[in-house]
Amino acid sequence: MTGYGMNVLTNPSQLLVKNSDALEAERILVVQPENDNFVPQLSQQGAASVNVYTTSEVVRSRLSDLGVNEACLAYGECIPDQKEKPDTIIVYLQKSREFMNYLLAMSLPLLSDNGHLLLVGENSSGIKSWQKRLAVYGDVEKIDSARHCSLYVLTPTVKPSPFVIVDWKASFEEVLHDVCVKAVTLPGVFNHGRLDVGTRLLLETMEAGFKGDILDFGCGSGVVGAWLAKRFPGVRLFLLDNDAMALAATRETCRINEVDPVAVIASDGLENVRGRFNAIVSNPPFHEGVKTQYETTEQFLRESKSLLKPKGRLRIVANSFLRYPPIIEAVFGHCHVLVKRDGFTVYEAFNG
Ligand SMILES: C[S@@+](CC[C@H](N)C(=O)[O-])C[C@H]1O[C@@H](n2cnc3c(N)ncnc32)[C@H](O)[C@@H]1O
Repeated sequence: MTGYGMNVLTNPSQLLVKNSDALEAERILVVQPENDNFVPQLSQQGAASVNVYTTSEVVRSRLSDLGVNEACLAYGECIPDQKEKPDTIIVYLQKSREFMNYLLAMSLPLLSDNGHLLLVGENSSGIKSWQKRLAVYGDVEKIDSARHCSLYVLTPTVKPSPFVIVDWKASFEEVLHDVCVKAVTLPGVFNHGRLDVGTRLLLETMEAGFKGDILDFGCGSGVVGAWLAKRFPGVRLFLLDNDAMALAATRETCRINEVDPVAVIASDGLENVRGRFNAIVSNPPFHEGVKTQYETTEQFLRESKSLLKPKGRLRIVANSFLRYPPIIEAVFGHCHVLVKRDGFTVYEAFNG
C-alpha cells in the first residue's frame, strides 16, 4: 500500500473543502484528484453528480475501494466523453507543466457554457505561476490561499480548440548493441525526449541471456521492452506501469517497433501481476524526497523473488546512492553489481 491514510485530506483538498461555496454545482468533474478522501466525501454530499478522471492506477484502485462508482471513475490517457457537460471542473495542479497544459486542453472543451474551472495546488509546486498561464483561456481570480496552497477559478472567455491527442505525442530513436528502437512519449511520461542515462546503462548490460517471459516494472514509454523484443526475438513481454499516460505511450512504442507484447498491465506495484517470469527488469520509480516512490520500489524488490521462475533473474538500474543492495541481499541472499557509471548502478540477483 502506498499513499496517504484513507481519512486524511491533503492540503489542496482541505482548501477545496474550506471553500465549499465554490463547489456548489450540478455536475462536477474532478481531474487528477489526490490519493485521499476528497472525492468520496464530495460524492456522499449528494448535491452534485461527481465524475472523476485520473491517470493513476494507485488513485483509481483506492477510489474504487472507497466505494466511488466505477461508472463515474475514468482511468486512461483521455477523459471520456461526458454525457452531460460538467459545470465545474476541479483540476489538481501537476508538477509537469506540459502535463498541466495537456490536462487543461483536454478539460476545457468539456465545460458547459458559463461553467468554471477550479485549479488548486501547493504553493511550493508553483501554483502561483498558473494565475498568469490560465489567463490565456479567460478571466482568472484567486479564491483563497491557505494550508500552503492556493485556489484559482477560471471563467473561460475564449472558445477552446478541440482536443487532439496526436498533437501531444513526441518520439525519439536510439541505437544500442546495433538495435534501433523508436520510443513514443506523452506529457508527464518519464524521460526527456531522449533515453534516460540510467535506462541506457541498463540496456548496455543486456548483451545476452534474456529469453522467455520478461516483465518490465515501470515501463514508462515502453522503450526497454521494445528494445528487448528486437534484441532477443521470441521473448514474451509483460509491460507494467501505474500511469495511464505511460501505458498509452508503451502501446504506441510497441506498435511503431512492430513489437507485440503479451500484456500491457495497469498496476500499482505488482498488485495486478499474475504468473512467474524468467526475468524482471526495471528502472524503478524514484523521485528524490517522494516517500511513496521509495516505498513502491522497496516493496517491488521485496516481492520480486516470488514472481521469478527458478533461476529467473532480477535486473535493475538505480541511482548509486539508493540503499537497494541491502534489500536485494536480504531477499535473494546476494546482489551482484554489473556496472557502476555516471551515478547509476545496475544490480542483478537470481532466484536460486
Ligand atoms: C524511472 S521511470 C522508468 C521508465 C522506463 N522504464 C524507462 O526506463 O524509460 C519509472 C516508472 O515507474 C512508474 N511508477 C511509478 N509508481 C508506480 C507504481 N506504484 N506502480 C507501478 N509503476 C509505477 C512511473 O509511472 C514510471 O513510468
